[in-house]
Amino acid sequence: MIINTELKQNHNLFPGKVISFSQEEGKVNFLTNNEVILQVTVLKDSVVRFRYATDNNFEKDFSYAIENGSPKEYFDAKVEEHENQYSIHTNTIKITIQKDDLGTTIYDHHDNVICKDDLGFHWEQSYEHGGNIVKMSKHAPLGELYYGLGDKPMHLNLKGKRIENWATDQYAFSKDQDPLYKSIPFYIGMYEQRAYGIFFDNTFRTFFDFCKERRDVTSFWAPGGEMNYYFFHGPNMQDVVTQYTDLTGKPELPPLWALGYHQCKWSYYPEKEVKEITSKFRELKIPCDAIYLDIDYMDGFRCFTWNKEYFPDPKRMVAELAEDGFKTIVIIDPGIKIDKEYWVYKEAIEKDYFCRRADGPLMRGKVWPGECYFPDFTNPEVREWWSDLFKEIIDEIGVKGVWNDMNEPAIMEVPSKTFPDDVRHDYDGQPCSHRKAHNIYGTQMARATYNGVRKFVYPHRPFIITRSAYSGAQRFTSSWMGDNVATWEHLWVANVQMQRMSMSGMSFTGSDIGGFAEHPSGELYARWIQLGVFHPFCRTHSSGDHGDQEPWTFGEEVINITRKFVELRYQLLPYLYTMFWEYAEEGIPMLKPLVLFDQSDSQTHYKTDEFIFGNQILVCPIQEPNSKGRRMFIPKGHWYNYWTREFVKGGMERWVDADIDSIPLFIKEGAIIPKYPIQQYVGEKRIEELRLEVYYKLGNTETSRVYEDAQDGYDYTKGEYSLRSFSLTGKETEVIIEQIVEGNYITEYETIRVECIGLPFTIGKIEVDGVMVPFDTENNTLVIPKVFAKLHLTS
Ligand code: GLC
Repeated sequence: MIINTELKQNHNLFPGKVISFSQEEGKVNFLTNNEVILQVTVLKDSVVRFRYATDNNFEKDFSYAIENGSPKEYFDAKVEEHENQYSIHTNTIKITIQKDDLGTTIYDHHDNVICKDDLGFHWEQSYEHGGNIVKMSKHAPLGELYYGLGDKPMHLNLKGKRIENWATDQYAFSKDQDPLYKSIPFYIGMYEQRAYGIFFDNTFRTFFDFCKERRDVTSFWAPGGEMNYYFFHGPNMQDVVTQYTDLTGKPELPPLWALGYHQCKWSYYPEKEVKEITSKFRELKIPCDAIYLDIDYMDGFRCFTWNKEYFPDPKRMVAELAEDGFKTIVIIDPGIKIDKEYWVYKEAIEKDYFCRRADGPLMRGKVWPGECYFPDFTNPEVREWWSDLFKEIIDEIGVKGVWNDMNEPAIMEVPSKTFPDDVRHDYDGQPCSHRKAHNIYGTQMARATYNGVRKFVYPHRPFIITRSAYSGAQRFTSSWMGDNVATWEHLWVANVQMQRMSMSGMSFTGSDIGGFAEHPSGELYARWIQLGVFHPFCRTHSSGDHGDQEPWTFGEEVINITRKFVELRYQLLPYLYTMFWEYAEEGIPMLKPLVLFDQSDSQTHYKTDEFIFGNQILVCPIQEPNSKGRRMFIPKGHWYNYWTREFVKGGMERWVDADIDSIPLFIKEGAIIPKYPIQQYVGEKRIEELRLEVYYKLGNTETSRVYEDAQDGYDYTKGEYSLRSFSLTGKETEVIIEQIVEGNYITEYETIRVECIGLPFTIGKIEVDGVMVPFDTENNTLVIPKVFAKLHLTS
């Protein structure tokens, strides 16, 4: 029986009959008569791990995706033996295991089948490499839908597609191209509104087939490693993502400035040009917090060196930029130039830190500096060494963030674009070939960089970016989508990629605004900025070989549009920061595709354009030239058009006006949206006042939160934060806002300015904790002390 045609062989092997089972430390082992073991571990009520061994022998339990190498949580689930099967029960699900073939089925507590093996686990022995080609196939009921899997530039719903995960440098990739830079083998399935997730934690090249080969089968496989996957029960899709993120890790809070606007190009040099760019931002009053130095800052592309002709005194320059509010971020690549005079090269050679080919020679490949060797980031000692290399850049020169590029790893002028399979890696003490280490190489580089930056930037918070990533990379780094193109189609791709990344546990992402390759029209750039300010990472970047891509290169109108939207992002910083805090704290995805926002409405299941920014703002980019607006779907409930304040009913499509200076934007009724004053960079001004935009809602109480802290540093981990939770109750002639404040952080501002939108009555009386307060008729707002428990507005 051939299930994966790609593998062409017909040598599938299957588990035999179960002959015994045992239970120890949360692990339930089922042994078959042909020495297959299925090990089931219940980590939580809704999270179960399935692991298969074929020679009565598991590999060492180690995963880069999971902090400390393996999941530590478990509980001793109850196992029952029945005539033909075993069953394992948690508080939310039941798992059955067939005695004659190890077939598993997972049910919810209403006895709905959530996930059922088709052939289940099977494998082929790999004569060439040893070990197995491990495979799993699941029954796919008609109507089941699939989401997730990281950076795939295709429709959010993956049904009917075959996907491959093999981190690849795909310059100017196209829509539907696969694979790209990242490998996130986690998907979400949903059938009859019930969602579940599967994380196939295998770093080899992995494949997923969503009913492409057979319309009622979904399968996943890898040409090596173990069949080792985690099942997450929803039924709520957001809970699936949250559980996956819990397992693979959450990021720490970035410094607030990292959520500002960033400007990048390949490359800004010499120093004079860098200064011209930053000054222009201040002159035009387009807020900006970070400026990037691409590879030309280095001396002949040697990592950890400076081109002294372009940058004679980097420390002074970085300090001067900092005075003007700019944080300097530099790129770093894994390729180390083969140069006997170069200290990084010499150290690595001396310590034997470079990757080697199977028979011993060093792994040699061409990248920017020419012929290079490559540190083996899967060796903990190498990571430690690499992290220390950042001392000068960060500690002495004052750079604030590091951008990891080419870490798939990318090799030029070879068809595979990467290392050959035989390259050896330490893999944290379990030596292996590149087949196994390839997909996590980039993440281990970013991890080593993160450790270095964190160490030297302390007591500030680090900021790291990576191009390649495997599951779990979100613990260390933000990420961008690589070398996209300045086309309208790529604007669509950017929108889909960021939503997909968010639902794949990695929210802190953005695209190269305007497109990396080729040159955008002013209109395309404007539309891209309008979307980009709603992506967690917001940076303009371009390859620079086709003309400039700073906002002012497109003329007055685009300057004004850019300013308007970047200003809006800066006003929304407390909202964005709160979203990030919810992500860092609770694993809640920052962007929510509509299906994740409201899976109960089948109209959301195929939507790709509209998404929810945080919890309460609906965004829908304009993706075509010459548009005056577009049709879009408004999710169920009531919403306010942000621009016109018109109150609209959701659950249907409608036309929304959005001329070139606008983007369709809606606020959920009942939301309280916090805003800061416009600043040219984070920390430019003292925040004198927090503004709250209150969007009236009749009926049920709605809650909104505002998280704040010192915007950098680690005092927040010791209770120095401020979390305001507002609950809004709207009645026909009154509005009540109750506030609970937690944490010890004292915010700078003393007052809160409240603006009410959509009130069906004229405010007659305002009471704050029982005391009357006047209405500022001029500004149509009311100003109240920040410490209050109850604000009561009546007609
Ligand atoms: C790669 C990166 C790009 C960078 C360039 C030069 O193409 O993806 O962002 O500008 O290399 O370093």
